[in-house]
Amino acid sequence: MELSTILNERHSARWFKEDQIDRSKIEAIVKAAQHAPSWINSQTPKAVVAMGTTLKQIRAEHASLNHDEQTPSAPYLPYKPVPEWDARSQKNMKGWFASRAAVLGDDWSAKLGQAGDALYNAQAVVYFILPKDFSQWSLIDLGSFMENMILAAHDEGLASIPAYQYVLYPDHLAKHLGLADDEVAVMGLGLGYRDDQAAVNESQSTRAATDEILRILD
Ligand SMILES: Cc1cc2nc3c(=O)[nH]c(=O)nc-3n(C[C@H](O)[C@H](O)[C@H](O)COP(=O)(O)O)c2cc1C
Repeated sequence: MELSTILNERHSARWFKEDQIDRSKIEAIVKAAQHAPSWINSQTPKAVVAMGTTLKQIRAEHASLNHDEQTPSAPYLPYKPVPEWDARSQKNMKGWFASRAAVLGDDWSAKLGQAGDALYNAQAVVYFILPKDFSQWSLIDLGSFMENMILAAHDEGLASIPAYQYVLYPDHLAKHLGLADDEVAVMGLGLGYRDDQAAVNESQSTRAATDEILRILD
């Protein structure tokens, strides 16, 4: 597929079909994504992919943790409430909230919450692992690695969603994923076949005008 087609067509999916993903497809996507650039070619981020029984166990625990008031979420990269972001970002986020309400109704947040409880029904979740004492530059490398994976997945006919929802409980994940004490799951990427019947997949995000975010200085 042409890169421009992939870039234009790709949108996050928030509900996936039950159809399983071939393990060989996951391996091909991760191998393609390894072409991402990284700081002095450090290639620090690792990928641990949960599928099948492992993912079922993570999914069941995730849903119960999301409703357990004794266990607050604790993503390794801290959550920043919307009112604390800069004005331009807040405007974009509010536009996104409004677009979800237009499609899903006033209880859009609850509906997306339910989808999140179920890990968006992803059939594979890629967890991006960093050493706990990572350089902040490794976050840029992780983003490049993940984006390559997202584009390679689309090329293979797979939809995806990058989601902090996947890493709300890193201590619990560490056990499921068999991580070393000095490793942490920083971000997650859900993969699967998009369910076009699902209401949560109906609306697509828009983008700001390019001149709002671009200045070219001669
Ligand atoms: C770092 C990051 C975290 C995200 N976390 C979530 C999430 O937890 N839940 C969710 O529904 N979407 C999440 N998203 C998806 C964004 O909402 C989505 O990428 C954005 O609205 C643009 O839409 P698009 O991906 O369909 O183009 C996340 C995206 C990124 C890059």
